[in-house]
Formats: sequence, C-alpha cells, structure tokens
Amino acid sequence: MAEQSPADSQGVGVTRRAVLGTGAGVAVATMLPLQSAAAQEISVSNETGTTLFVSTTVNGRAVALDIDSRASLLDLLRERVGFSGTKKGCDHGQCGACTVHLDGRTVVSCLTLAAKVDGRQVMTIEGLADGDTLHPMQTAFIDHDALQCGYCTPGQIMSAVACVRHGHATDKASIREFMSGNICRCGAYAGIVAAIEDVAANSKEG
Ligand code: FES
Ligand code: FES
Repeated sequence: MAEQSPADSQGVGVTRRAVLGTGAGVAVATMLPLQSAAAQEISVSNETGTTLFVSTTVNGRAVALDIDSRASLLDLLRERVGFSGTKKGCDHGQCGACTVHLDGRTVVSCLTLAAKVDGRQVMTIEGLADGDTLHPMQTAFIDHDALQCGYCTPGQIMSAVACVRHGHATDKASIREFMSGNICRCGAYAGIVAAIEDVAANSKEG
C-alpha cells in the first residue's frame, strides 16, 4: 500500500508515490531532447554592462551572442540560450548539479566563464538523447530508480556518461570516487552506481 502524506487525512493530500512520480516526471522531462532543434542558430544580443561576443556550439546548435563579461556558462545556458535542463544548485562549484560537457570533458558550468567557451563545443542534458531515443545512461537511471527529486539528475547523468566514457566505471569504489563531486541531497546513490555499472557493462562508450 502506498504511503500517505499527513495531509491525506484532511482530504487534500497526495501519496508519497504520486509525489515521487511527479518529481521523476520532471527529471525525465529534462532528459528529453528538444524537438526540431537541430540546425537552428540562436542569436541573442540583449545584454547590459561590459559585453563580449561569444560564438560557440551548444548541443550541436550554433550560438552567437553578446554576453556580460562576468557571466558564467551556467547563466549563458539557462538565462540566455534557454537550455534550463542544467540546474543551478550551490553556484559555488560544490554540488555538481550544473555539470555539462565542454569539448567532451565535464566542467561545473557555474565556475566556467562563458567567455571561455568561445569556439568550443558544449553539451548539456538536452543534447544527450538521439532524437526521441534516450541515451543509455538516461534509460539506466530510470530503470535503477537513480533519482528521487531529480534536481541533481542532469548533472549526475552528465558525469556518469563521462565516468564510463573515460574508463572510470571499473568498480563501485572507482565510480563513487569519480562521481564524488555530484551531490544528491535525497540519497539516490545506490541507484546511481547501479545505473553506471549497468551502462559500463553493456557499452564500451557510455
Ligand atoms: S551549481 Fe555548480 S557546482 Fe553547484
Ligand atoms: S535526486 Fe534529489 S538531489 Fe538528487
């Protein structure tokens, strides 16, 4: 029987399972690819203060914009380009929620200056799937219940893909060490490690 929230007795509550289902739904939604996004060029030029022109590629799409010289890559992605799947947790490089790939390697986008991505390739959670087909790591996270609230999940998945791709998913201890910069406050660690092990066992690249 599903657990009931205290509010159930007042007739207005929802089951914990329903809440978790909603949270998972949100998380999965951030895993899904943008539709019809390929080959669109994004050009944004409204910015105040001292600006820099940055030309980069995000999830295969050309991005050209003037941006505040102090802006982070996280701000560029979420506030200027509209890829909000990458999450802002601590904004201090401590939680890993903002992890993305820059030229194939993981970076915390909150501590990466947007100016540094000029001429480089950025991939976020939205770029991981192949059309409507989820990346194997996204599928494995769902299969292994590797998310609870889902807020850290995009960053976890980006690190998990790199963990396998760069040969660090050899055993549980190595996976935990590689993933130690990604903090999950609600404690989905067992599922996360299982998902990474699963992908590592079934794929040479992740
Ligand atoms: S938001 Fe970047 S590490 Fe926490
Ligand atoms: S799933 Fe909730 S913080 Fe990670």
